[in-house]
Amino acid sequence: MYNNFAYIYDELMADIDYKDWYLYIKSIFDKFNKMPKKLLEMACGTGNLSYYLAKGGYDLTCFDLSSEMLSIAYNKLIKFKNVQILNQNMVDFHINKKFDAVISICDSINYIEDKDDLLAVFKNAREHLDDDGIFIFDINSHYKLKHIIGNNTFVEDREDIFYVWQNYFDESNDIAEFYLSFFVSDEDGKYTRFDEEHFEKAYYTDEIIELLKQASFEKVHCFDGFTFNKPNEKSERINFIAMV
Ligand SMILES: C[S@@+](CC[C@H](N)C(=O)[O-])C[C@H]1O[C@@H](n2cnc3c(N)ncnc32)[C@H](O)[C@@H]1O
Repeated sequence: MYNNFAYIYDELMADIDYKDWYLYIKSIFDKFNKMPKKLLEMACGTGNLSYYLAKGGYDLTCFDLSSEMLSIAYNKLIKFKNVQILNQNMVDFHINKKFDAVISICDSINYIEDKDDLLAVFKNAREHLDDDGIFIFDINSHYKLKHIIGNNTFVEDREDIFYVWQNYFDESNDIAEFYLSFFVSDEDGKYTRFDEEHFEKAYYTDEIIELLKQASFEKVHCFDGFTFNKPNEKSERINFIAMV
């Protein structure tokens, strides 16, 4: 769960180019001949993609489970009149509106640890989509969570944040466990420590496709992250596009 991490999330994600991510999403719309107007972004976090979607003039509804993440998103998005921000859970959200596209990026889907819950997320996305709508999301691949991130420790020393990220991969349930310790410096150079635990479920591509089919998405495509190439056994991010 994102608590205090929310307040330094953007600084730690500074290397990620959300404008490029936005352009990739737009290229998916083009490839599948979609011209959506009403968008729903699930697990929008601090609103980094939402910002570009809002700027692009879409009628955007975005939500997240973490109120801390949303508080950052709110400051970023307040100036846009075409955005609605909600505090909801992907598993059981209800919005009294249908959308042309439902989007969720940056492995938020891996946060759904239970397969039945993931099916509920997909069914819910389907229910909020118009019949000719498009559902776009990505996951951290099973390969990445097990072999690259899992059972590894990462340490990063930034100007005012030092953090240690210790990971374990639990083979019995395919869950990557992340234990994060942050040391954040104030203006006087005094460091304050806080810790968070995050869990991501490692799903296989076929499992996701099967769940999408169960949720009535008949047409499913998957691509190696940020491309239109087929995923391979070492793909780290897999992008799914599902339509009814
Ligand atoms: C890795 S962050 C990605 C945030 C954002 N999409 C981005 O690109 O920066 C994962 C996000 O998923 C959210 N999340 C996790 N479980 C959720 C749930 N069940 N419902 C809604 N949001 C959830 C977290 O609060 C967090 O903001």
